[in-house]
Amino acid sequence: MKGVILCGGSGTRLSPLTEVTNKHLLPVFNKPMIYYPLHTLIDAGIKDILIVTGGKNVGDFLRLLGSGRDWGARFTYRCQDGSGGIPVALGLAKEFVGNEKFVCILGDNIMEKNIQKEVNDFSNSKKGAKILLQKVYDPERFGVAEIKDDKLLATYEKPSKPVTDLAILGVYMFDDKVFDIIPKLRPSKRRELEITGVIDHYIENDNVDYSIIDGFWIDAGTFDSLFKAILFISDKEKNDSSI
Ligand code: G1P
Repeated sequence: MKGVILCGGSGTRLSPLTEVTNKHLLPVFNKPMIYYPLHTLIDAGIKDILIVTGGKNVGDFLRLLGSGRDWGARFTYRCQDGSGGIPVALGLAKEFVGNEKFVCILGDNIMEKNIQKEVNDFSNSKKGAKILLQKVYDPERFGVAEIKDDKLLATYEKPSKPVTDLAILGVYMFDDKVFDIIPKLRPSKRRELEITGVIDHYIENDNVDYSIIDGFWIDAGTFDSLFKAILFISDKEKNDSSI
């Protein structure tokens, strides 16, 4: 399967750190942020990866990551003009993906778990989409999934009164039908297309699966969460080097 990593956006929640560089190039302990989601894809066996980015720093991604040879992978780059929400960036992957199923990860999502099993299950399933969930104490910060009797009923983007504490991770598995759904989406109140709108289309057709994921996961897009990510990685590095 192919992978797509989204590294656009203006990173306003991390300003002024993001005034002169892209959020996904900021350090998380001893590596640039993008290294972690890239490892998540590569460790899941995904070696053909599209990096979607934009803004003033697109050249820095190429300088940092190159062809992918050093990672045992193949990297392709796509430049996004402006923003508009996750689905707009995802839409730029249409030609790269072709008619296959693929995995998309947000460039600020850092997770401990190896998702190879989830990716393989999706590849072998008849469903057109799969999302990953985790219980959190602050669901209003995320997309939230409503589940009843093990069935995914609906998703809500940053609800003020979340119906559950199940956050939707920034790891999305889709078939190529996603590219027919994106043009049908309408902007949300914050004038962006929302990824939850895409997922809801799959829910309407009973065509989406989910897994609840354990292990550390964080969206490192705020000062608080970036700090937690740094603490987690520094601890992990110390433990790994003491083996
Ligand atoms: C995005 C998605 C949200 C998801 C989150 C995970 O939010 O819109 O549904 O839960 O990523 O990282 P953002 O971080 O762009 O505000």
